[in-house]
Amino acid sequence: MSAIVGTPVSRVDGPAKVTGRATYAAEFDIPGLVHAALVTSAIASGRITAIDAGAARVEPGVIAVLTHENAPRLPYEKARRRPPIDPKVGERLHVLQGPDVLFSGQPVAMVVAETLEAARRAAAAIRVSYEEAPSVNHFEAEASREPEGKGSEDKRGEAEAALEKAAIRVDSTYEHAREQHNAIEPHATIAVWDGGRLTLYDKTQWVGNDRDEIARVFGMDKGDIRVISPYIGGAFGSALRTWPHVTLAALAARETGRPVRLELTRRELFTSVGARPQTWQRVILGADGEGRLTALVHEAVSQTSQYEEYTEATVDPSRSLYACPNVATRYRVFDMNINTPCPMRTPGVVSGVFALEVAMDELAAEAGLDPVELRLRNFAGKDQESGLPWSSNGLKACYAMAAERFGWAARNPEPGAMRAGRLHVGYGMATAVYPAHRAPASASVALNANGTASVRTAASDMGPGTYTSLTQIAAETLGLPVDKVHLEIGDTDMPVAPVHGGSITLASVGNAVAAAARAVLDRLGTLDGAGTESDFGALLTRNGLDRLEAEGGAKPGEETQTHSSSAFGAVFVEVRVDPDFGTVRVKRMIGSYDVGRVVNPKLARSQCIGGMVGGIGMALMERVEWDERYGRVMNANLAEYLVPVSADIGELEALFVEGEDTIFNPLGAKGVGEIALAGVAPAVANAVFHATGRRVRSLPILPEALIQA
Ligand code: MOS
Repeated sequence: MSAIVGTPVSRVDGPAKVTGRATYAAEFDIPGLVHAALVTSAIASGRITAIDAGAARVEPGVIAVLTHENAPRLPYEKARRRPPIDPKVGERLHVLQGPDVLFSGQPVAMVVAETLEAARRAAAAIRVSYEEAPSVNHFEAEASREPEGKGSEDKRGEAEAALEKAAIRVDSTYEHAREQHNAIEPHATIAVWDGGRLTLYDKTQWVGNDRDEIARVFGMDKGDIRVISPYIGGAFGSALRTWPHVTLAALAARETGRPVRLELTRRELFTSVGARPQTWQRVILGADGEGRLTALVHEAVSQTSQYEEYTEATVDPSRSLYACPNVATRYRVFDMNINTPCPMRTPGVVSGVFALEVAMDELAAEAGLDPVELRLRNFAGKDQESGLPWSSNGLKACYAMAAERFGWAARNPEPGAMRAGRLHVGYGMATAVYPAHRAPASASVALNANGTASVRTAASDMGPGTYTSLTQIAAETLGLPVDKVHLEIGDTDMPVAPVHGGSITLASVGNAVAAAARAVLDRLGTLDGAGTESDFGALLTRNGLDRLEAEGGAKPGEETQTHSSSAFGAVFVEVRVDPDFGTVRVKRMIGSYDVGRVVNPKLARSQCIGGMVGGIGMALMERVEWDERYGRVMNANLAEYLVPVSADIGELEALFVEGEDTIFNPLGAKGVGEIALAGVAPAVANAVFHATGRRVRSLPILPEALIQA
């Protein structure tokens, strides 16, 4: 059997997806299914004084109207230990439990009807009266205020004193817009009650936690809830948490005694499933005459809701990535009348790396150094924060490989010096980093008498190709071809798996699948005739068995105490800027990554070029247009919320440096999902500076920033 791990197997779930046989949360065909539609608040702060649902209740097909006036009070039990995806402070939104309005777009009523059309028509007929209160809607005004003590500070050495003595110093502020989760599959839940038992067909990156959350909301035994989520049409972090609409679907189904489907509209998604928070940052770098960092100060200010304190790891890369003895970081958030933000691909890190890597580019210009050379001079041989050695670090190889492939040597360092006809040409680069983690996971593997194997684990696949990579690992361990292995995921009845986020799935569940496969082979070896039968199907038949099953698990160990683990990368970009219109086009991008062992080069490349597209969106397009008067999203649709389309994307190339990180985990994989987006936006911004001599420190970089004198 030739190696399967490390080969470009095509997606095993691809045929089901492109032929429509893959069933997404909203698509389960449940007999008697009825539909829910929401009414959301028109004000950002205040209280509901009256709800007139008279016209809605008499609409044909309407089964129920639920508001805070008639909805039952729900227990909302507190978690003994908060799941790592929840904010550490505050309480999730308690939906339809009272008259208070905390943000514009908060669900205030729900209609259940025989058809979706009837539900939406009736919802539109509901009249809500409010008593409005002052609201906090203005990010810049709040961010510029002096800190009020909400946040964290960290210090290593004496950054302020070192800055005084620095030979070179740069000091700039950076901003990026609020970015909205906008996966093509809208979030949806179907809730089905059978007596006291609840089944949820839900879009979620963590079926186990979805079950546990809803158990707490309804005060149920979690054994009475099953969550089924086999396919996810993109999530990027939006389906990590269990949002209020899941509770609403379950509540609607319980109150009406019917299976209920609640699918959020595109407009509702803009205020229902989290977003990358708008962030303001200041970075001050001090260096000696050779460009070696002597001081680094990084401050970040971000936004959260009135009911939860969502924080991000924005300043963390500044504490660990570059060799620097004196580092001070400060992070704070303030409460706005918005729904709670949440992780979006490469959460926090991509924001912080944007500011840090543009600041490094500014330092390179100030020091008269090539940007790659500056980074090599500041390479950190160990994690600067923990002091631990890296379990592996291929960052230097990433710089070298991507620079070579890109043709970086041809760069004229003078900004604005390179042209292609009338267009300005810019070359820019940035470092990419994302910490590598893993979590306990389990899986089962069954060998069937017909010569196939069945693998089960409660993991998810929101797009990275988990179906395929786990199938490859099982096939290779069992010595079977890929098409003899059938993998099932996304069901709380399966062996427990951790959250499908933070790029931990392969390093966590991959090792569990391998362990389960080895365990079933061990069992096979104990069967009568094991030494002589070469075919396991025949061996099972000889022993009178249809199937033989075993569970296996894997979890982090001592290496978390002895080593620091991280994925690394280097991103190189060529942009073309139109000097008259200020439009920026990414001509080409080359990223080189150290992600440990690459289980599937086709999928890893696909992940990385997808991350580059997301990064181009962050750099040049994505922005929630915020109406500060009313605290409302103005562009809550896919026509006005811009994301890159094919015509916006030039040549993208992803390369991987050799290596496997077997200190981090036996499989040696470090995770690809988040690193793919890291480094892209600063590389684009740095290329724009190189093309034009104009330093834009606010994302997205819009044409007006480049044509204004
Ligand atoms: Mo990713 S932001 O952890 O889903």
